[in-house]
Amino acid sequence: MSGEHKGDAWAQPADPDHQSVDKPKPCFSLNGKTIWITGHTGMVGRALQRRLAGENCTLLTTDRQALDLTRQAEVEAFVGSARPDAIVVAAARVGGIQANMRDPVGFLSDNLAINLNIARAAHAADIDRVLFLGSSCIYPRDAAQPIGEDALLSGPLEPTNQWYAIAKIAAVKLAAAYREQHGRNYIAAMPTNLYGPFDNFDLDTGHVLPALLRKAHEARHRRESTFELWGTGTTRREFLHVDDCANALVLLLENYTSAEPINIGYGEDIALIELARLVCQTVGFAGAIALDPDRPDGTPRKLLDSGRLRQLGWRPRVTLARGLRQTYAWYREQLAREPA
Ligand SMILES: NC(=O)c1ccc[n+]([C@@H]2O[C@H](COP(=O)([O-])OP(=O)(O)OC[C@H]3O[C@@H](n4cnc5c(N)ncnc54)[C@H](OP(=O)(O)O)[C@@H]3O)[C@@H](O)[C@H]2O)c1
Repeated sequence: MSGEHKGDAWAQPADPDHQSVDKPKPCFSLNGKTIWITGHTGMVGRALQRRLAGENCTLLTTDRQALDLTRQAEVEAFVGSARPDAIVVAAARVGGIQANMRDPVGFLSDNLAINLNIARAAHAADIDRVLFLGSSCIYPRDAAQPIGEDALLSGPLEPTNQWYAIAKIAAVKLAAAYREQHGRNYIAAMPTNLYGPFDNFDLDTGHVLPALLRKAHEARHRRESTFELWGTGTTRREFLHVDDCANALVLLLENYTSAEPINIGYGEDIALIELARLVCQTVGFAGAIALDPDRPDGTPRKLLDSGRLRQLGWRPRVTLARGLRQTYAWYREQLAREPA
């Protein structure tokens, strides 16, 4: 059912932007510990494995076929016997606007079940360190920008992904409730939109950045004159490379001990039309971008205030332009591996 890993084959390129920071003394040391990374086949789970590969800790993973995290009894049985020292909840039902709108029940119930089952099982097995992952969609649609953690539950959610958001908010509160009632050191981190190797390039279920890379790539190869960008193009989004997110998650696992969620963001946002232009440059597509304003735009702007995380010494290292080049190179490698 479970495996022990030391990362996968994607090597992070040399990083010219790297800024070394003095590491604070950890409140949870990874040294000699066993960490269960749930969702290890996903984009974040894989980045965490790459990040932790060099640390003196053992990584535990479980395949969904053997352990479906929506099944409480199985989760409790696994956690009770494996007894990891810490759990990172990177497993989730994840998808873009279309996928959310098509299956509200699935996005709400699967994510509620995954988080609740893991929290209960961890507490029952006396595991004191759990890191839950939410996302910037937990904040109100019209939250003041940049969005601080204190905006949580201060207004109505964006309707298109409210189901997923409610499940993630429940996880934040679950972590806080276990802390308040049982003194558990459970925490919740809220990354902004992520991208990178092992992103989902499926046009139906994926997010906007990989979808644009794929559309531009296909338009170029089919020698088409345009590719489509949903919405008005004015919507602004913040994008963070998943390796930067993994660095932040490890820092938080080691150092963060508050009931408040903590944001993980790049610190700048970009209009989607500008992102589409950057994608065209990356891919080498010289045609036009056709807007489809009848499609939903989603929340007009979502820029996180990540000041709290920066105070812990974290900085993003991968610029959007460089991250796009890396991600596109990875995508092309995957296409080259597919049977003709
Ligand atoms: N991607 C983003 O832009 C983004 C932004 C902010 C926050 N996050 C958060 O980061 C976390 C990970 O996201 P991601 O992008 O890595 O997602 P992902 O690539 O879709 O990976 C999801 C992972 O969860 C696993 N999973 C889903 N349902 C499961 C179940 N019932 N039982 C066992 N495993 C299950 C999947 O396993 P299979 O391989 O078997 O499907 C996969 O390993 C999520 O909590 C998400 O909310 C992501």
